Amino acid sequence: MYDFQFDTADKPVLYADLVAAARGLIHGESDPVANMANLAALLALALPDCNWTGFYRLVGDTLVLGPFAGKPACIRIPLGQGVCGAAAQSGQTQLVKDVHAFPGHIACDAASASELVVPILRDGQVVGVIDLDSPTPARFDEDDARGIEALAAAIAHAV
Ligand code: SME
Repeated sequence: MYDFQFDTADKPVLYADLVAAARGLIHGESDPVANMANLAALLALALPDCNWTGFYRLVGDTLVLGPFAGKPACIRIPLGQGVCGAAAQSGQTQLVKDVHAFPGHIACDAASASELVVPILRDGQVVGVIDLDSPTPARFDEDDARGIEALAAAIAHAV
């Protein structure tokens, strides 16, 4: 079993450890639901000050809720809508310091104040997103964005 202890003071170290732990969790497992469930729990464990950590999967032109840790959330998000839909449509990470200033933000948990959404690309195609919410404004920075992008690349084949 992994020793799930993370040094949250140094983000590059934190994300290197997070990616290593994620690789360990998915190693040898091909079931995408099981892998996303463990990864959502891992994100909640490793990242302080997050009220929602999880996955949306792109099914046709709609994002459909996947495994997560947090309050029950919106089940379907059309491509292009909300922060998640913007990330999936553009294929670009969305780093939102103030969700209330983001046009079309979808408030699943009223406590959320900032958000980071990273697309998951497989063979150049968006297959889903990793979504992180925080109750703290500007909780996420460029280090978080690069770290979650590294995670998305490491797990894309397994979700
Ligand atoms: N806020 C997201 C919706 C998903 S929840 O945060 C879990 C959005 O605007 O797409």
